[in-house]
Amino acid sequence: MITSGQKSNRSQEPRSPRKILITGGAGFIGSNFVHHWHETYLSDRIVVLDALTYAGNLNNLKDLNGSSQFRFVQGDICDRPLLDQILAEESIDTIAHFAAESHVDRSILGPDAFVRTNVVGTFTLLESFRQHWLGRGKPKDDRFLHVSTDEVYGSLSENDLAFSETTPYAPNSPYSASKAGSDHLVRSYFHTYGMPTLITNCSNNYGPYHFPEKLVPLTCINILMGKPLPIYGDGQNIRDWLYVGDHCKAIDCVIHCAPPGETYNIGGNNEVKNIDLVAMLCDLMDELAIDLPVHPARQLITFVKDRPGHDHRYAIDATKIRTELGWTPSVTVDEGLRHTVQWYLTHPEWWQPLLSPAYQDYYKTVYA
Ligand code: NAD
Ligand code: DAU
Repeated sequence: MITSGQKSNRSQEPRSPRKILITGGAGFIGSNFVHHWHETYLSDRIVVLDALTYAGNLNNLKDLNGSSQFRFVQGDICDRPLLDQILAEESIDTIAHFAAESHVDRSILGPDAFVRTNVVGTFTLLESFRQHWLGRGKPKDDRFLHVSTDEVYGSLSENDLAFSETTPYAPNSPYSASKAGSDHLVRSYFHTYGMPTLITNCSNNYGPYHFPEKLVPLTCINILMGKPLPIYGDGQNIRDWLYVGDHCKAIDCVIHCAPPGETYNIGGNNEVKNIDLVAMLCDLMDELAIDLPVHPARQLITFVKDRPGHDHRYAIDATKIRTELGWTPSVTVDEGLRHTVQWYLTHPEWWQPLLSPAYQDYYKTVYA
């Protein structure tokens, strides 16, 4: 059994309770992180700020209802008065910033929301926290951790070395360009104001609570419904897959152990071609599900038109976080995918309501 509450790799020295604001905490990685933090740091105060866009889901957090350590605020990271109010009211000393528009295909269809949330929203949050941090006398243990992506580095060919922290930025989609813009703003707040910021750039995550527009949950759910499994182009594109619980532990490690101003790449050392990943999911479903509508599920694999500007390969060199902070992934791709398939099989009440008319419209547009 894999849980998001496994202890992080950091040393377990005594610590003062933190008051942490987790933006985007009702989304996929954010909600896994909320669970991780709540289970690991029992005395900490956790405030989630989330706009509940199509990707935000209160069901991701429902087991925290009733916890006196937890507060949920529905709101937008572009809303400066609301941010100022929450930071002051809750005496926030730590921010884990996940809130974003996160899906590449949606950024191709409509980039506006990506610039607004990812660039303007991150800027608004930085400014609000800067005033708050200054007003409290610049406490040295405060942290602002910005969760970012390996996509800012662009695309690799098969023979290129994996992305390191010194790889030049070369974003190729409106999504990755907006994340690159936000990364640069965060970096500038450390260099200009001395604000204790941190940046993490992570590879592709998978696991529970993943919205079914992304490859792994879409494949699981389409297999369960007997629908085609769309593979863009020739399926030879490569991603470096990391179980979401391992990502959460890496962020925990960076918040607690990294010097301010640093940036860390996080990856699973698990490069897999899309076609092979989908085949693995098909085989796991064949093994674990009872009465699939189409069996073997590989019959559902369907090649469709390619994503415009589709990055060929991402791969992370995670040497820095391993050698400086002692973090390494603990879940293999075989274990993680098996657990993920089991989770989608046993949680239809979570994913069925997400297949709304709005979702069907989106689906028809992308796969037209
Ligand atoms: P997600 O789309 O599942 O969740 C995003 C959350 O942000 C949602 O709950 C949404 O309601 C909220 N949100 C969106 N706009 C908002 C706004 N204006 N104000 C407040 N809340 C808002 O995304 P995810 O996959 O969990 O990704 C979280 C973060 O991690 C993102 O910053 C993403 O760029 C980064 N990241 C994701 C991956 C991945 O594989 N999913 C990998 C590396 C980095
Ligand atoms: O690398 C980190 C990034 O990983 C994050 O920053 C993004 O937020 C996250 O969405 C993810 O981006 P990708 O574009 O890599 O993820 P996605 O699941 O959309 O696609 C994974 C690969 O599968 C990619 O090569 C495109 C392909 N694909 C995707 C979908 C949805 C398909 O072949 N068919 C599909 O239907």
